[in-house]
Amino acid sequence: MDFQQIGALDATYYMNTFGSRTPVAFERGEGMTLYATDGTAYQDFMAGIAVTALGHSHPVFVAAMTDQVQKLVHTSNLYYIENQAKLAETIAKHSCADRVFFANSGAEANEGLIKLAKIYHHKKGTGRYEIITLRNSFHGRTLTTVAATGQEKYQKPYAPLTPGFVHVPINDMDALLGAITPKTAAILCEPIQGESGVHPLEEGYIQAVRKLCDAQGILLLFDEVQTGMGRTGKWFGYEHYGVTPDAFTLAKALGNGIPIGAVCAKQFLADAFSPGDHGSTFGGGPLATRAGLCVFEVLERENLVQHAADVGAYFGERLHELGAICACEVRGKGLMLGVEFVQPIAKALQTALFEAHYLVGAVGNTILRLLPPLIVTRKDIDGFMDAAKQALAALV
Ligand SMILES: Cc1ncc(COP(=O)(O)O)c(C=O)c1O
Repeated sequence: MDFQQIGALDATYYMNTFGSRTPVAFERGEGMTLYATDGTAYQDFMAGIAVTALGHSHPVFVAAMTDQVQKLVHTSNLYYIENQAKLAETIAKHSCADRVFFANSGAEANEGLIKLAKIYHHKKGTGRYEIITLRNSFHGRTLTTVAATGQEKYQKPYAPLTPGFVHVPINDMDALLGAITPKTAAILCEPIQGESGVHPLEEGYIQAVRKLCDAQGILLLFDEVQTGMGRTGKWFGYEHYGVTPDAFTLAKALGNGIPIGAVCAKQFLADAFSPGDHGSTFGGGPLATRAGLCVFEVLERENLVQHAADVGAYFGERLHELGAICACEVRGKGLMLGVEFVQPIAKALQTALFEAHYLVGAVGNTILRLLPPLIVTRKDIDGFMDAAKQALAALV
């Protein structure tokens, strides 16, 4: 099928939740490169929104997935699953978590996380059920994760939402203290807000939040759906802050494109789930958990977490050069980067880069968002910078 035919089918049959997308459909990928239906090669600086950390068609990943599909794809959680047990062990050994539950997406993992926090307080009889999250956060598209998400535009049409969520401004300790009540069960946040334009939490803020939670019996929960699995130059975003959450979620890069989510908790909190309290048909199936095991294996074998820190620092430095063409602020850690321009040119720059065969994201009219696969090289970044400078200079 050519692109026109795909677009026509989409316009007729697919629900119009995504509006007019970037006008391209991809047929195959290799490393940093995606090939469109007409054969045009694009350099992928979005990694499917922080998902394909190993790049496209990584040979070790292809071999693992092929082998697993040939052996076994699904059995259900009525039976024990070797890959599930091994991936839970691997996550626990790499993180502050002791136990893991697998879901199928970031939103579903966050649902599990919120349920875990609520059932913990329910079983302890604390009477606490409110969850404080941050303004401009993004936690998913299910009704409860939309309620958790601190953005009215996602909430309005779906009222009434799950009650019990309170939103406070990011990095504002006074606002947080003002929102705490005897009903506060947990504080949930992304270490770096991604979807709203790459806004890192401040170290002092997170450390103060951790202290506050310890002092008041409040759970600290991190949504690491985007920041997890090496994206920020450490395995998990919380490692930048010298604190550990009581539980956190993963998704996106954990499966490198095979859908999977994970609720990862310290023992005392994980113990709140008893048999029957939570579950999933697909969650933690043999294929998705094999994908997760393969992602850990390749990230380790190719030292990609350290690589993300190194090339991410290089990329961040080079992005400052754009400021000579149009004033901007560069934010983020590792390979989770955003550039906020003083002029409303982000969408036009995204389009110009697409025409130069680079895929990037834009948040609103001012923020460019960059989430390349963790295999990106300095040479790839140099190529991107040449294209970005040329495109930006033509716009201002
Ligand atoms: C921080 C964060 N949490 C949750 C989600 C939702 O994940 P999913 O789209 O897999 O449900 C996203 C997706 O962008 C995210 O960035």
